[in-house]
Amino acid sequence: MEPTNHPITAKAHTNIALVKYWGKKDEQLIIPQNSSLSLTLDEFYTETSVAFDDTLTTDTVQFDDHLLSAQASQKITTFLDVVRELAGITTRANVITHNHVPTAAGLASSASGFAALAGAASRAAGLTLNRRDLSRLARRGSGSATRSIYGGFAAWQMGEDDQTSYAYPIAEQVDWDIVAIALVLTTAQKKVSSRDGMRLAVNTSPFYPTWVQSSQADFKTIETAIASRDFETLGHTSEQNAMRMHALTLSSDPSFSYFNADSLKAMALIRELRAAGTACYFTMDAGPNIKILCQGQDAPTVMSQFQQVFGPESVVLTRPGNGIQISD
Ligand code: ADP
Ligand code: DP6
Ligand code: CO
Repeated sequence: MEPTNHPITAKAHTNIALVKYWGKKDEQLIIPQNSSLSLTLDEFYTETSVAFDDTLTTDTVQFDDHLLSAQASQKITTFLDVVRELAGITTRANVITHNHVPTAAGLASSASGFAALAGAASRAAGLTLNRRDLSRLARRGSGSATRSIYGGFAAWQMGEDDQTSYAYPIAEQVDWDIVAIALVLTTAQKKVSSRDGMRLAVNTSPFYPTWVQSSQADFKTIETAIASRDFETLGHTSEQNAMRMHALTLSSDPSFSYFNADSLKAMALIRELRAAGTACYFTMDAGPNIKILCQGQDAPTVMSQFQQVFGPESVVLTRPGNGIQISD
């Protein structure tokens, strides 16, 4: 395979999991313990460009305008090694990446980050992968990146090995008016990475086997709710699934939590709004920032409530986003 003689740029969006991925069967290949399902978001994304260059002796990574040390770029280099092996090359690369999403704050930067890197690096290495194979490649960087290859609703079928663990689109063009309102309560980096948090749950939470079972039931329920555009079932099941995932952090040894005081305050407000008749539900990934699921018609009411409590700059309206785009 011949690397391209010009840089390749890819843009990929983050996604919010409605059925969470939490736990691996295979740490090295990133094969999960349960299938997961997500909605890709338009407002949060990563842009990455990659050029393989014969004159380089190491990979170089510019991350949000800072040059990373060899240690800080280790995960990216390891990922590029997977790409090099696929393409049959040994050439080092220049990587330039910009996150239009806070990094490591529970807003899924690893999803958009590794999806964009997979798209740009594979094409720059001379490979032309179909989307299923691109989702398998992105999986090697971060599990949630598997789903960010597609727009709209996407699912990651857990599978059992490298070939069978990939994502597929459920509804790339979302033809109902569903929105996710992100509450960006803090952009501080989490203390426990998703990777470490889920490993601890698999190894120590007595509830882990129950999680695997109940998440599979949630997957079927949400799949059906998407097909029938049943927003209340989708929202309710997503919220339950998120809280069951967070119950795994509380029941790990040592126990920990991704919640902060504002997360709890936001959850209470969502329950109040719901009791007063607005169909809105929350979900949360591995970080204190909440996402509120509601329908477009209710977004102004919900947003104004949260703007009053947390400030206008903390409330970001996101809609279903597109799949990955890769330059020629
Ligand atoms: P998040 O909630 O942001 O996904 P994670 O703990 O899952 O947090 O992952 C954060 C890690 O993802 C970062 O430390 C970094 O290794 C990786 N990451 C984030 N953005 C990028 C990017 N643009 N390119 C490559 N890797 C990235
Ligand atoms: C709570 O994909 O960030 O956001 O595969 O170890 O990189 P690694 O973890 P990551 O985990 C995501 C966890 C989650 C749920 C989800 O996105 O499905
Ligand atoms: Co992540």
